[in-house]
This record gives sequence, C-alpha cells and structure tokens, in this order.
Amino acid sequence: MYLLKKVCVTRDKITIVGAGNVGATAAYTAANKELGDIVLLDIVKGLAAGKALDIAEAGPIRLYDCDIVGTTDWQETADSNLVIITSGLPRKPGMSRDDLLAKNVRIIKEVAEKTAKYSPDSVIIVVSNPLDAMVYAAYKVTGFAKNRVVGMAGALDSARFSYFLARELGVSVENIKCVLLGGHGDDMVPLPRYTCVSGIPVTELLSEEKIAELIERTRKGGSEVVNLLGYSAYYAPAAGAVEMAEAVLKDKKPVLSCCAYCDREYGVGGYFVGVPAVLGKNGVERIIELSLTELEWAEFNKSLAHVKELVQKVDELL
Ligand code: NAI
Ligand code: 2OP
Repeated sequence: MYLLKKVCVTRDKITIVGAGNVGATAAYTAANKELGDIVLLDIVKGLAAGKALDIAEAGPIRLYDCDIVGTTDWQETADSNLVIITSGLPRKPGMSRDDLLAKNVRIIKEVAEKTAKYSPDSVIIVVSNPLDAMVYAAYKVTGFAKNRVVGMAGALDSARFSYFLARELGVSVENIKCVLLGGHGDDMVPLPRYTCVSGIPVTELLSEEKIAELIERTRKGGSEVVNLLGYSAYYAPAAGAVEMAEAVLKDKKPVLSCCAYCDREYGVGGYFVGVPAVLGKNGVERIIELSLTELEWAEFNKSLAHVKELVQKVDELL
C-alpha cells in the first residue's frame, strides 16, 4: 500500500472581490496561470461559491492545481497577498462611468475597510468604475501606502489601442507596445509618439489621420462594447487585471500603464491617474516620467482636471 504524503506548498493567496463578469473571468484567467490560491467573494449568496466551484472543476481539463473557493465571508480572505476589487455596478448603454460614482463609492468603502482588516499587507488592484476615483477611495479608506494601491485601466486601454493598431497594420498584437496617460475616460491620452511596432514608432507606419481615428476608437472602446452587449466589457478588463496581478505576484517589473499615485510626478499633486509604472512585489515601484509635447501636456491636464472633479465628489461622500 502506498502512502500519499500531503505535499506542503506555499502559494500566493489572491482575493477577488465581486464574482460578476470581471471578477469571475479574472478568477478563471488567474487559475489558468496558476497565480495562486483564489478566494472569490461576493455579497450575493451562492454566486461566488457556484462560480468558484465551476472554475475549480475546469482544473482537471485546463490542468491547474490551485485552490479556488467562493464565499460571502471575509474571514476566508484573510492574509491574501493580493486583492483585486471588481465589486460595484457596471454601466449600461447610455451611462458614463462617472454615473456610477455615488453607488460604487459606498461599495468600495465597505470592501476597502474589510480588505484593510483581513489582508493588511496586501497589494490592492482596483477595477471598479469610475476607476481613478475608486482607486483614490480605496487608498483613503485603507490607509495603505500609496504604492500598494493601484488601478487597472491602462492595461485595458493599451490592449484596445494595440489590437486596433495590429489589425490596421496586419501585424501580430505581440509586436505592439504602447503607453497611455490620464484618467480612464473618454479623455484618456494614448501616446502614439511612444507607441512602437517591434521598435518602429507607429508614427512611421500610419498617417496622422489614421492614428487619430484609432485613438478615438480606443477612447470610446468601453462604450463600443457596452452598446453591442448591453453591458460592460469583461474579458479584456479581466485580462488586464490579471496581467497586473502576475506582475506583482511574480515580481516581474514590467512597465505598464496603470492608475498610480502621483505627487511631483507629472506635476499631478497627489492624485491617482494613469501613468507608465514599474509593477513588482511592492505594487507600484516606480513611475516613468516621459517628456511631453505641449499638446500632450494639454490633453493630460484636461484628463487630470476631470479626475480631480471626481475625487472631490468622493471626498464629499466618504
Ligand atoms: P458585475 O455586475 O457583473 O459584477 C459586480 C459584482 O459585484 C456583482 O456580482 C455584485 O454582487 C458584486 N458586489 C456588489 N457589491 C458588493 C460588495 N459590497 N461586496 C462584494 N461584492 C459586491 O459587474 P462587472 O461587469 O464585473 O464590473 C465590475 C466593475 O468593474 C464595474 O464598476 C465596472 O464598471 C468596472 N469595470 C472597470 C473596467 C476598467 O477598465 N477599470 C473595465 C470593466 C469594468
Ligand atoms: C470599459 O472600458 C466599462 O471601463 C469599462 O470597458
């Protein structure tokens, strides 16, 4: 008779708050990458447990071995290394991300308090909208160091821009690297001067008019999907959140556009806004400051002004 010894493994623990479209898809994507053991949490009874079980049952086919549980109980999330917050209302056709602010700030407040209580050493990746304002709310409520709270939007917006460019140029999506600045709204600032196709600036390959057209499509990328589906995008957003989670958990240190706290950087003065940053085990480890043209500064400052307005509303509600 063979004795099967229980093998002790130390795996990272990831909590994903919100088992809706983005949260559940992020859990499935993270499981497929075996990023760690996953706790999926939602306030709706049975939702997280059902989705977690379904994801776990795909393990023997997809060949992942991590533990995946779903719960409504925060105690099960204790001592997570990373918490991805996707809880909150998504927008419907005709709504802007900003329309979600009042309701979602309440949800983020509750979730951030619980995160600080149960996983005080975690890095938090916020996905809920309006993104830049919800990252600020999570930062204020948790009292975490600024590097340990970051928002996912640039990864998604960069992916959309990259996809449109790859299709236009007839090249692999793998060849495109791009940088975005600003808030996650229609005034986001994709930077074609810093966007490359295997090292070749995209400005060498496409006309100004074509680039402007693809930037406009990127800015409206969220609405394009909402208008088709009737609800918010989730495959690409979940992929963006997991890309950031992987960077943190594996201490990979990629440069990704993400919503990070900037003070002197870009002259922001203490707000969370989209900038290129190095992500590693400490969360946001460094912000890369780019030189900008007058037009790029103007676009960035317009987007930042919008973020500041939203943050003021958050401060009134917290
Ligand atoms: P969804 O409605 O499918 O899922 C949200 C889940 O949050 C629901 O299952 C709900 O029960 C749960 N929830 C609500 N309050 C909660 C609480 N207090 N504790 C735990 N769970 C709670 O929405 P979806 O599509 O997953 O989107 C989630 C959020 O992410 C929305 O705010 C959406 O606008 C945002 N989003 C942001 C993106 C970005 O680029 N930053 C991209 C896509 C979505
Ligand atoms: C998106 O850009 C709604 O923020 C979400 O798809």
